[in-house]
Amino acid sequence: TRTHDEEDLPHATKKTMADHLRKYESLFTLTPQRMRMIVEAFKDTLELGLQKHDQVVPMIPTFVFGWPTGKERGDYLAVDLGGTNLRVCLVTLQGEGKFEITQSKYRLSEEQKQEDGQKLFDFCAECLKTFIDSNIKEGTIKEGQELPLGFTFSYPCSQERIDHGQLIRWTKGFGVTNTEGRDVAAMFIESLGKADIPVTLTALINDTTGTLIASHYVNPRTKIAVIFGTGCNAAYMEKMGNVEKSKSLGIKDDAEMAINCEWGAFDSFEHEHLPRTKYDKVVDETSNKPGEQAFEKLISGRYLGEILRLVICELIDEGVLFLGQNTYKLEAPYVFDTAFLSLMESDPTDELLMIIGIFTHFFAVETTLAERQFFRALAMLIGKRAARLSACGIAAIVSKMGYLEEGCSVGADGSLYNKYPGFADRIHEGLIDIFGEKGKNIVTHHAEDGSGVGSAIIAAMTKERKDAGLY
Ligand code: GLC
Repeated sequence: TRTHDEEDLPHATKKTMADHLRKYESLFTLTPQRMRMIVEAFKDTLELGLQKHDQVVPMIPTFVFGWPTGKERGDYLAVDLGGTNLRVCLVTLQGEGKFEITQSKYRLSEEQKQEDGQKLFDFCAECLKTFIDSNIKEGTIKEGQELPLGFTFSYPCSQERIDHGQLIRWTKGFGVTNTEGRDVAAMFIESLGKADIPVTLTALINDTTGTLIASHYVNPRTKIAVIFGTGCNAAYMEKMGNVEKSKSLGIKDDAEMAINCEWGAFDSFEHEHLPRTKYDKVVDETSNKPGEQAFEKLISGRYLGEILRLVICELIDEGVLFLGQNTYKLEAPYVFDTAFLSLMESDPTDELLMIIGIFTHFFAVETTLAERQFFRALAMLIGKRAARLSACGIAAIVSKMGYLEEGCSVGADGSLYNKYPGFADRIHEGLIDIFGEKGKNIVTHHAEDGSGVGSAIIAAMTKERKDAGLY
């Protein structure tokens, strides 16, 4: 890699970059006052979702009743269809909050995310078969016996039972056909049957619900779970008495059930509450689902890189950046990975050598130090806004449930939370901006693997309930 003095180049001096940065600072900064307004609107939206069916934020009852005891035991298979990978796991629960896990990952191609639904589930079944053949010793599954399988399907599904789920809509860029409106558990069971796999699908769960249960299994102070990955969403435990729309089920008011909020949809369509910049609007309008997942589009890993890329492209068009260089590689949608923002923010060198590397290696353009400082500052603005908006969502649940005084722990998982430098600290700062000093009572921690371990615990809890003749 080469560096050079900015005087050598006809573009982007320190002064012009600093001027531009000021403009973006005011666009992307969230004041504490604005955050508190968002929290209020968010709370109302959560309440509405519990009262009525078919709301923008659907607040889905998951049929996961209450917390695990920690005594759950046994072998369980789990298939996890998230945003980027397909994962298959074998989980052995050993009780006392302990477990063992064996797993394989399979990358999903872009085509698979747009093709026919049954074909996608056939692929999931094939991967499961391969996994069983190579990981489960012959004789482990006795003749006529079927292993229980938890299916973590991380998209909004409305459920009538735990082993059923009608896909409300795809999110995270998926456009698989013939699936929206259908029971995805039934579709997967059909694929499992075709592949002749000796398993019983016991539970269909969301990654947030799995994370909630798995985190509580090892840390009983956990009351909320949040995923910050390709998508962004939360789950928490609710008293059935507060779920007005489910009264007809006849479940006791003081029984508890996990709610999958699907909060990524907050402020969709109407766009009344969230501060959207023109870059956010472009991300939305050029997505396969314009208007939808408005909150998620400002926060999750799928979109942050694209927001930054759009700002860069604007400055290229205005003749501020990369003058005289060929910038076509930066002009394709979604080429700027959110991982680049993490790298830019964590570059420890004065010269910002890692940022030089990103731009020369991936986009074949040279940068001045002033430009690199600008990019880093821009990443910080976008990353910080995402974390502070996330704090608003957490605050809405905390305040609705009255958890502020006694405090609680929030199990968090996903690439953004785990890999983006300072993301968790920024959430904590945001909570203090919203609640004052008491915000310190709310802490996030890295969650247990919800899609694997969580799904196994839920399968075990479900089996126990079934054996006891309950729902
Ligand atoms: C999207 C999905 C949601 C999932 C989240 C995190 O928001 O709609 O179901 O929990 O991504 O993976």
